[in-house]
Amino acid sequence: MEKIVILTGAGISAESGLATFRDAGGLWAKHRIEDVATPEAFIRDAGRVHRFYNTRRAQAAGVRPNAAHAALAWLQAAHPGEVVIVTQNVDALHEAAGSRGVIHMHGELARALCAACGHRWDAPPEMSRADACPACGACACRPDVVWFGEMPYRMEEILDHLAGADLFAAIGTSGQVWPAAGFAQEAAGAGAHCVEINLEASAVASDFHEARQGRASRVVPEWVAGLIGEAGVQSP
Ligand code: OAD
Repeated sequence: MEKIVILTGAGISAESGLATFRDAGGLWAKHRIEDVATPEAFIRDAGRVHRFYNTRRAQAAGVRPNAAHAALAWLQAAHPGEVVIVTQNVDALHEAAGSRGVIHMHGELARALCAACGHRWDAPPEMSRADACPACGACACRPDVVWFGEMPYRMEEILDHLAGADLFAAIGTSGQVWPAAGFAQEAAGAGAHCVEINLEASAVASDFHEARQGRASRVVPEWVAGLIGEAGVQSP
């Protein structure tokens, strides 16, 4: 049974209304990474970092999955083999569309992490530096997201999935952030066919065997319909 591994990035959530990072008007055009997305920024000004993620948490709570998220959930349900979704996104739109077992390699806005004891819990809508950890009581609570300079989550598991993939697809990611940018090379090295689905060629486009360009809400459902058709499974 063919194993499919899918990597998603901010581009898949763009049409739901969440800003990407590096497009014109993206988050990194409005905020400096070193002010809001590094461990040093949190030590320097935790309030500012919390405000940035509180805003993003509120925005993420107000949007709905689009046709691309829905198509991937359909693929997971209809494909006779394993379909693993790895996302760099901290929103919960894959889950809202019905996907299961999503690997959030850059963490989740909906979760909180105690920097003192490592305890994790569901984040309140607004976090602040005065919040106490429910396990140890320390006031060192942070969003459970991965910052620049930190190791993405569940890398060993992800590399195992890539090593066993027959088909790898990257959707809506610019290929500028590592280690995710290296996943196509990993999967191709293990024999997978690699497809890039994006508005434009990414920084690592040459690592893919095939490119499908256009808006995710159009291209992903088309791609999924083709895969499911090939597998001989009826659409719901
Ligand atoms: P980027 O903002 O770097 O890239 C988004 C990509 O999606 C671009 O290549 C766009 O062309 C494409 N895109 C935009 N709208 C699209 C649409 N409607 N359909 C298809 N493609 C579209 O976002 P990521 O690659 O996800 O990490 O960024 C990776 C990481 O960098 C993020 O997880 C975040 C950021 O810094 C951390 O904060 C640690």
